Amino acid sequence: MRFPPSFIDEIKNRLPVSEVVRRRVQLKKAGREWKGLSPFNPEKTPSFFVNDQKQAWFDFSSGKNGSIFDFVMLTEGVSFPEAVERLAQMAGLPLPKVSAEDERREARRKTLYEVMELAAKFYEENLQARTGAKARGYLADRGLALATIARFRLGYAPAERFALKEYLGAQKIPVEDMIESGMLIAGDDIPVPYDRFRDRVMFPIHDFKGRIVGFGGRALGDVEPKYLNSPETPLFHKGWLLYNGQNARAATQKGAQLVVVEGYMDAIAMAAAGFEATVAPLGTALTEDQLNLIWRMNDEPVLCFDGDKAGQRAANRALDLAMPLLAPGKSLRFAILPEGQDPDDLIRSSGAAAIKEVLDGVRPLAEMLWLRETADARLDTPERRAALEARIGEILRVIQDETVRRHYRDDLRERLSRLFAPSMPASVRSFENRGRGGGRPFPAPRENLATRSSGLASSPLVRGNLSAIPTREALILLAVCNHPWLLKDYAEELADLEFAHRDADSLRRAILDAVSDEAADDRETLAERLSAAGTEELKTRMDRAISHKGDWAVRPEAAREDVIAWWHQIVSLHRRKRTLSRELKEAERALGAEPTEANFAKLKDVQERLAVLDGTEALIDGFGALSGRPVRTM
Ligand code: UTP
Ligand code: MN
Repeated sequence: MRFPPSFIDEIKNRLPVSEVVRRRVQLKKAGREWKGLSPFNPEKTPSFFVNDQKQAWFDFSSGKNGSIFDFVMLTEGVSFPEAVERLAQMAGLPLPKVSAEDERREARRKTLYEVMELAAKFYEENLQARTGAKARGYLADRGLALATIARFRLGYAPAERFALKEYLGAQKIPVEDMIESGMLIAGDDIPVPYDRFRDRVMFPIHDFKGRIVGFGGRALGDVEPKYLNSPETPLFHKGWLLYNGQNARAATQKGAQLVVVEGYMDAIAMAAAGFEATVAPLGTALTEDQLNLIWRMNDEPVLCFDGDKAGQRAANRALDLAMPLLAPGKSLRFAILPEGQDPDDLIRSSGAAAIKEVLDGVRPLAEMLWLRETADARLDTPERRAALEARIGEILRVIQDETVRRHYRDDLRERLSRLFAPSMPASVRSFENRGRGGGRPFPAPRENLATRSSGLASSPLVRGNLSAIPTREALILLAVCNHPWLLKDYAEELADLEFAHRDADSLRRAILDAVSDEAADDRETLAERLSAAGTEELKTRMDRAISHKGDWAVRPEAAREDVIAWWHQIVSLHRRKRTLSRELKEAERALGAEPTEANFAKLKDVQERLAVLDGTEALIDGFGALSGRPVRTM
């Protein structure tokens, strides 16, 4: 059920956030805000804030924030409609009736499903009728069994211009419905709408509930286009559907490995050969929504794309699409087909065993990425090696999940050091291995990684090198320098933060090194160790980056409790900002490459979320003022 925005606003206006939150969290007044202990994490110092004016809450311990609806959803584990119902009751508002417009739209969708179902039946009948002889011959030549044809409900669209239109007309389907379902071609310059699909083998496309929502039609001979697909309609959204999706999901639930192929015929041939958990996109490159659908079925789906140039391009696109979305445990794997063959060809020429072999040779995403970046790279000069390293650094930056990124960094670093090591001049090698039993011609990978890691760590592989040090990075580091006791609890957190600036990263590393053997509880000890390591200059640069900003939390005299609360806020903010900036870049790139409405909408969405985050930043600034501390401007 959908609620009109005005109804949602009405609930928000009637229920202060503090009133909703107070049913779960004990709140204390803090200036214009309320604060309390996070309901999401155990804690001693309140880091959960509520602002009734802004109709928002913010949990600095987890970075979660939102409206009263989000709060109820998150704390009570209910869906959005349920949260709306509960809060409407609390606000004393009756639930709105579904509007007549909504009902009409719903009824319309129902009749459109009927149109699709009737069309499928018509095509199936035609395939079996006299008109379908040529198409039956075609399918038989392609090795499709009758049972497979029946199971996938393949059919034939006759060559005449009005065959389907007349059939549907006889069933009392209005012409507008035929047009809206995409089955007729119509337009201002087309006096008489006519059948979209003519003289083609028809592949019905089902949604995940098994309803037919569109068709793909293949020409019988060398006709362009080879495949014609239904246009976007109220039922058919190419980007969110997968061919054979419903069957494949059922198979994965029984434990089958999910395979993604490129074509309808490939998916059918795979299923017929026993690989039921096979899906294909619908004539377009894999979309993010499709990838998420796929990941819901299977953590590590196998992409099995054609062994030709186009197939390789598709695999690369999928790889680039997946990188920002990788999450712990969620990845892709790649099965490489023999040159010039697709799964359907291979099954027909060599049988299911050949596919099994291809699937057994599957490679993890990290390896595919590495192969792609290094296959044609000439690495005979330092500049070229540096270029490779830089390129890999760029790719790493795209991974949003910090844990996955860390592991990719380690993996790729190791691969790089293995790749570079043998080409180093012998003199350098023996120098680097001095004292480590370095008499061997090639250092073992681990050892090699250890000796080279400091060099690689400060390379572009790990970070960029912007000219201005971002204020937030400087603030975080100076706060640690002035409050080294933070490291007792938060060293890990500091180590995991992503810093854009090389200097910030170097200082962070130096700080962590300085306390790795023995904690430095007081400022002076840490300062001495940093100066012994020759990193004073870095600290001065941080100071300069914020010198005119007078931040209270970095001052030595700030109270511990305040510094901890501030730390949670700034760290959470920093993480979210980095993630969003990356999403912004990605969205801009996508829009540049493909100026579609969807890409534009995505960009707007990211921009809006950034704006919300900036608002939050202002809110955090306000906290300084609330407790009578100097206002921080950042
Ligand atoms: P392919 O060109 O790889 O064809 O397109 P295929 O699947 O091997 O088809 P056959 O074996 O020649 O029949 C792969 C997929 O790309 C979409 C279709 O979804 C097809 O299954 N496609 C291809 C189109 O939408 N239009 C086209 O003109 C070609
Ligand atoms: Mn094919």
